[in-house]
Amino acid sequence: MRYAYQEAIVALGARPAEETARTIGEFWNEHNGSSASNLLDVGSADGAATEAILSFTKNIRFDSVVVVEPDLSLCDIAVARISVGTGRVVGVSSIDHAGGGFAHVLASHVLYHFSDLKEAIIDFAGRLSHSGLLTTVVRSTTCDTFLLRSLSCRRTAETARINESKVMAAFRGAGLDPVVEYVQRLVSFPREQYRAGVPDGALKQFLEFAMRLDVAGPLDQEARGLLNEMIMTRTVGDVISFSLRDMIVFGCRVDCDGSHSARMTW
Ligand SMILES: C[S@@+](CC[C@H](N)C(=O)[O-])C[C@H]1O[C@@H](n2cnc3c(N)ncnc32)[C@H](O)[C@@H]1O
Repeated sequence: MRYAYQEAIVALGARPAEETARTIGEFWNEHNGSSASNLLDVGSADGAATEAILSFTKNIRFDSVVVVEPDLSLCDIAVARISVGTGRVVGVSSIDHAGGGFAHVLASHVLYHFSDLKEAIIDFAGRLSHSGLLTTVVRSTTCDTFLLRSLSCRRTAETARINESKVMAAFRGAGLDPVVEYVQRLVSFPREQYRAGVPDGALKQFLEFAMRLDVAGPLDQEARGLLNEMIMTRTVGDVISFSLRDMIVFGCRVDCDGSHSARMTW
């Protein structure tokens, strides 16, 4: 379902991965210099997001990549996709088979699938080489898709299972020094797709995915009112625009004195 949600956003033309990929790629370039590297990519799906990141890290040579993707048909696609321009790429169905000693561990939009955030980050951190860098991406609690989901599940940023402060605390708990970057872009719909409080067309599809109405069921009166208010505040002229906001957290070991250290401070 989450993957379908990403697909829906891509289908709407928001190209969510691009700016996030650029931000990650540039950070990795700075961290890594031009040396050889290896990568563990947790939750690759079809590898499109990782492929986009690698397009921004042309001066890093990835001699080996391990792709973790439980959906094996997606895993095969990811391996084929990431193999272009990199060394050996291996696909595994579970992180338990991933091994360790990685210069980069990437967990992009996958933490939602791990029931214990702290344990997941400790596991990822344990798979890093001494100067390795962990990169996680989650949607921010100020992302409009998060706020829309809050309308249907009645969970706030404070009570969310994954929020900014919990991710930062999990990094610190795993002995990593976290640095955060936010990436924002807009997804827009014609105002005519929202008449008399009833969404239509691509807007309807977006709202259904963002609020996970398949799980939450129909919105009650109060939630409809809140949704209506939110849409009014997102409407300018003939366009309704929602802001999508990713939170990227980078972290390497607190005791690591690599070339990135200047960048790894607040
Ligand atoms: C939303 S997609 C993220 C795809 C890509 N990394 C991105 O940033 O767009 C999440 C992927 O994680 C996979 N996944 C779910 N549970 C997982 C787990 N325990 N370990 C690794 N991957 C998992 C899902 O099958 C899905 O393909």
